[in-house]
Amino acid sequence: MNIIAMFSKVPILLLLLSITITVVPASSQDDHGNLSFVFNNGFNSSDLDLDGFAEITSNGLLRLTNNTEHKTGHAFFPNPVTFKATPNGTISSFSTTFAFAIRSMMADLGGHGMAFVTAPTKGLPGARWGHYLGFTNEFASKDKAANKVVAVEFDTVYDSEIGDIDKNHVGVDINDIRSVTAESASYFDEKRGGFTNLSLMSGKPMKVWVEYDAVKKQMNVTLAPAEAVKPQKPLLSLTKDLSSIINDTMYIGFSSATGTVVSSHYVLGWSFKINGVAQELDFSKLPQLPRVGPEPISKLLAIGLPVICSSLVALVIFSLVYFIRRKRKFAELIEDWELEYGPHRYKYKDLYMATEGFKDKDLLGRGGFGIVYKGVLPSKTEIAVKRVAHESKQGMREFVAEIASLGRLRHRNIVPLLGYCRRTSKGSKIVNEISFCTEKVTDKLYFDDNSQRI
Ligand SMILES: *[C@@H]1O[C@H](CO)[C@@H](O)[C@H](O)[C@H]1NC(C)=O
Ligand SMILES: *[C@@H]1O[C@H](CO)[C@@H](O)[C@H](O)[C@H]1NC(C)=O
Ligand SMILES: *[C@@H]1O[C@H](CO)[C@@H](O)[C@H](O)[C@H]1NC(C)=O
Repeated sequence: MNIIAMFSKVPILLLLLSITITVVPASSQDDHGNLSFVFNNGFNSSDLDLDGFAEITSNGLLRLTNNTEHKTGHAFFPNPVTFKATPNGTISSFSTTFAFAIRSMMADLGGHGMAFVTAPTKGLPGARWGHYLGFTNEFASKDKAANKVVAVEFDTVYDSEIGDIDKNHVGVDINDIRSVTAESASYFDEKRGGFTNLSLMSGKPMKVWVEYDAVKKQMNVTLAPAEAVKPQKPLLSLTKDLSSIINDTMYIGFSSATGTVVSSHYVLGWSFKINGVAQELDFSKLPQLPRVGPEPISKLLAIGLPVICSSLVALVIFSLVYFIRRKRKFAELIEDWELEYGPHRYKYKDLYMATEGFKDKDLLGRGGFGIVYKGVLPSKTEIAVKRVAHESKQGMREFVAEIASLGRLRHRNIVPLLGYCRRTSKGSKIVNEISFCTEKVTDKLYFDDNSQRI
């Protein structure tokens, strides 16, 4: 086989692979024809039949109603579900799990609610918005038998006209908007051993389990925060044979409605099974709800940035002050005439270092004209440094000239002069300060001063 033939096989293999992946259905039937499906990674636009204001968002959320007043939205599984194994027999057990969230445009007002429904038709013709939640209407109560709708409602509005218990309840409705049974939204908290309130319109995702047992003829509805595991106790339990209400085949899906106040009703994921337990939804795989409020600034950045900035500014100021003070401390004055004595001149900084800052412990003596310190140059030469201060510039100049000539003098009784240093400024007062630096010979120290000249 040549190289080209080998490579030509690769794309075909990839193509086959991708086809098999896309063909895998979300729903399947077991050997007995029992339907099951799960939507755990968001919905595709072809997964459900939508009408009204329902839409699938770009990240796979089902949004039943958007923020438009007095509207309904429906989303149904496209194929009818066979609820009865034999025509006109009793209905089979079934279970469903879904995650939902309700986001209202107003802080304390909901508008209006949503429901899981089983219905003979997908479109629910004639159903109305507002407290009818998009799956029934004002005529339904008069001819209940014709309705054949079973719904589990999540209602965020209190309406005494239809027997609501409060403005945050879950109810089971049969052929009518008046609930057969209802409870305030809450979930059984195992740790506390009791029920904890939940706000349906908190905007936070919640999970629901609806289970019907064909033997017990009982329907349980369980609610919990979406990330929690299924609580042991249901919120609602209704014992009633649904065989006369649910037809051989029915459509299953969701309905929601807005009123004057509007909410967005989202379904994040959904699973269903006839004669078995619907697959658990993995919360971490569900699509994310849209973010509420402005982009959150990380706490670290919010606190860290000002701290870092002010530290930097402080550091810069501190460094500046340090360098200016250091520069002032070691500032010197050089005049033209001094250039000829160049080699004798020491830096004030060097003498400062040599005497460790003219410390008292290095004091050798105190003359009539200046103080003498002991010091060590970096070359390890021990030196004596005499520090004098003159206030007149002229006097200083003469003095330096003499010191210069002294430097040329050599005598066994005279300590050789190594050099000198000059600087100005001492606080606010301008003072000429001079330090003489001689090789240290302890008892033969000789320093020139104004009164004692050679
Ligand atoms: C709601 O959906 C309708 C129909 O899809 C659209 O025309 C409208 O602009 C949407 N409104 C909002 C607020 O998203
Ligand atoms: C829970 O909700 C019910 C009904 O709204 C209310 O009566 C009760 O006080 C709430 N409990 C707590 C602890 O908030
Ligand atoms: C409903 O909940 C009760 C109490 O936990 C339980 O005994 C019963 O088996 C449940 N029924 C169904 C249909 O899940």
